[in-house]
Amino acid sequence: MQVISLEGDRVVMLDQTLLPGEERIIECESTECVAEAIEKLRIRGAPALGIAAAFAMAQTAVRSRGRSREEVLEALRRTYERIKATRPTAVNLHAALDRVMRSAEASDDPAEAAVSEAMKIYEEEQEASRKLCEHGAELLRDGDVVLTHCNTGMLATATLGTALGVIVTAWKQGKRLRVFADETRPLLQGARLTAWELVKAGIPVTVIADGSAGYVMRTQGVSKVIVGADRIALNGDTANKIGTYSLAVLAKEHGAEFYIAAPLSTIDPNIESGEEIPVEQRSREELEFFNGRRIVPEQAEVLNLAFDVTPAEYITGIITEAGVLRPPYEESIRRALRL
Ligand code: MRU
Repeated sequence: MQVISLEGDRVVMLDQTLLPGEERIIECESTECVAEAIEKLRIRGAPALGIAAAFAMAQTAVRSRGRSREEVLEALRRTYERIKATRPTAVNLHAALDRVMRSAEASDDPAEAAVSEAMKIYEEEQEASRKLCEHGAELLRDGDVVLTHCNTGMLATATLGTALGVIVTAWKQGKRLRVFADETRPLLQGARLTAWELVKAGIPVTVIADGSAGYVMRTQGVSKVIVGADRIALNGDTANKIGTYSLAVLAKEHGAEFYIAAPLSTIDPNIESGEEIPVEQRSREELEFFNGRRIVPEQAEVLNLAFDVTPAEYITGIITEAGVLRPPYEESIRRALRL
């Protein structure tokens, strides 16, 4: 199943808001359509957002072929600004836009340069995911009980995945694992998407309510928590789906190892610590309604944080394509990024 692809001047993607009930493909013929898909989480997950942003730029480039160099760059700048405004936290989206824009600006043929840079980003993510899944799978032992959060598989990366890719790779190596997936309120990426991916792969999974993670750790022998990331600071502080920080604190209390799995493209070389990471707040409706029914009184205030930041001190290791980075992250991250 193709999560996202660029077909001529169309960005084609699987609408993740309809899973697991319906597998519907949407075909975007404009920047606005891709932007709306990102905002509504039809496509989501940091690496997949990077690819979607790159493909939006490539789509604009293809549609402006034959125009003057300045007209092509102007069209690319408009797409850049629209997509940049969609979601603030996942650094892959912003880094991909910058990369494609820079390579277009540096070329005599900006349309061709934009398309080829976008494809390069896609290919690099495939390679990074394959390698990081192998490094991560080495950490998993036969009999491990693993807890994961949100969705970090094929749907979130358009490749093998990060945290979920590690779990799937270890399973395929014959390791018997017990997998718990947090449902991941409020949009249920764990219940709807992670469980869907694992069931499709024939891997047993137990979905739990987010609020039960502590008791599951205490009573079910959870040995490892593995999650993804949306942005990692140079000191190792990591933004990921809301609820991740609570899991990290609980893991420490219960003696479980706590791993982040993410490609190096999710590390933001421009920020020193998690305090600088912009945390997305989403509309109150996402918390106010469940299945179309109001569950919060209109008069109540709502704080709908999409992400939280886990301080580096809680993180046992960061699984990347360059190997498993260990504390002190100030050193291991700079070494991996060759800074
Ligand atoms: O709001 P989402 O669904 O885009 O959030 C996704 C996550 O938090 C993932 O854990 C993260 O992007 C890593 S995806 C490999």
